[in-house]
Amino acid sequence: MDQEPAVRTEALTRVFEPKKKKEGSTVRALESVDLRIEQGELFGILGPNGAGKTTLLKILSTLLLPTSGKAYVAGLDVETQFNAVRQRINMVSGGEISGYGLLTVKENLWMFSQFYGIKSKVALQRIDDMLGEFGLLDKKDAKVRTLSTGQRQKMNVIRGFVTDPDIIFLDEPTLGLDVNASRVIRTYILDWLKDHPKKTVVLTTHYMAEADELCDRIAIIDNGRILACDSPERLKKMVRMNTTLSMDVTRLKDTAVFKTFPGVESFTFTEDGEKGLTKLRFVMRDESGVSDIVSAVLGQGSRIESLQKTEPTLEDVFIKMVGKGLE
Ligand SMILES: Nc1ncnc2c1ncn2[C@@H]1O[C@H](COP(=O)(O)OP(=O)(O)OP(=O)(O)O)[C@@H](O)[C@H]1O
Ligand SMILES: [Mg+2]
Repeated sequence: MDQEPAVRTEALTRVFEPKKKKEGSTVRALESVDLRIEQGELFGILGPNGAGKTTLLKILSTLLLPTSGKAYVAGLDVETQFNAVRQRINMVSGGEISGYGLLTVKENLWMFSQFYGIKSKVALQRIDDMLGEFGLLDKKDAKVRTLSTGQRQKMNVIRGFVTDPDIIFLDEPTLGLDVNASRVIRTYILDWLKDHPKKTVVLTTHYMAEADELCDRIAIIDNGRILACDSPERLKKMVRMNTTLSMDVTRLKDTAVFKTFPGVESFTFTEDGEKGLTKLRFVMRDESGVSDIVSAVLGQGSRIESLQKTEPTLEDVFIKMVGKGLE
């Protein structure tokens, strides 16, 4: 038998009805979402504001009920087996104001660990280790209300991992954090999965580079629907975008020949007399012609001084699918 996926949804739908008619119209926050996330995956959910990302994570972490359809976490039904689900998961939202301001960082984290029945000694050790890794050790005995936004968010992320969940849901874990703090969190996530290959991370993010760097697979969601779900590499390949190829070569005898090469959409060149270089620029319909171009250049006895290829980014994929950028 296949191993149980970490997450499985079937036609998962969530509708929000306005309390009063005049307060707006019905929102279909999730529309027939079918998703399967395997154990051990680092899975990203990418979508614009209002796409349904938080709604999806809330249903998977048993904070919100589906309107229709099914969601299973670790093989358990989130509607009927929510207690068992809760023992296996944790969920953290970026920018959330959680924790008790009057307790210290350590007291807060310890308290959350006790909700999950983690042995006190084990919890305290984990808390110390994680505070160290997150550069927060000097804030251990500080009251939570004195923390900066970023420090508080780091504490929230620690709270998520300190209970050692099988599956962790992170809703925009690096939202608003500076470059360093974001990197600390990303590195922690990757190391955690490396140390625990059966555990699963499901995160939402607005940052393309983050999704690209971290995730094994990404679901692109808009208006409550999954538009695509694949590895970052395959997503980028799905969008057939023009590749541009720029090459600096020692002076060429015949440039006209490149105009008619297969796959070349347009070709321009400039001579850099001072350096004795010809600068070639190709817009390619696909990449298959690149090696022919390279051989032709070398065949004329020219040397390639530099070669640069620009490929589509995840942002290009996203814009193509959703029709607008993030932010
Ligand atoms: N409690 C609620 N009552 C009514 N509508 C809601 C509620 N929660 C979410 N919605 C609506 O559902 C849709 C999806 O919201 P959701 O918070 O899941 O989006 P999101 O993808 O997380 O967006 P963001 O990137 O802004 O966090 C939105 O149109 C939102 O207004
Ligand atoms: Mg959200």
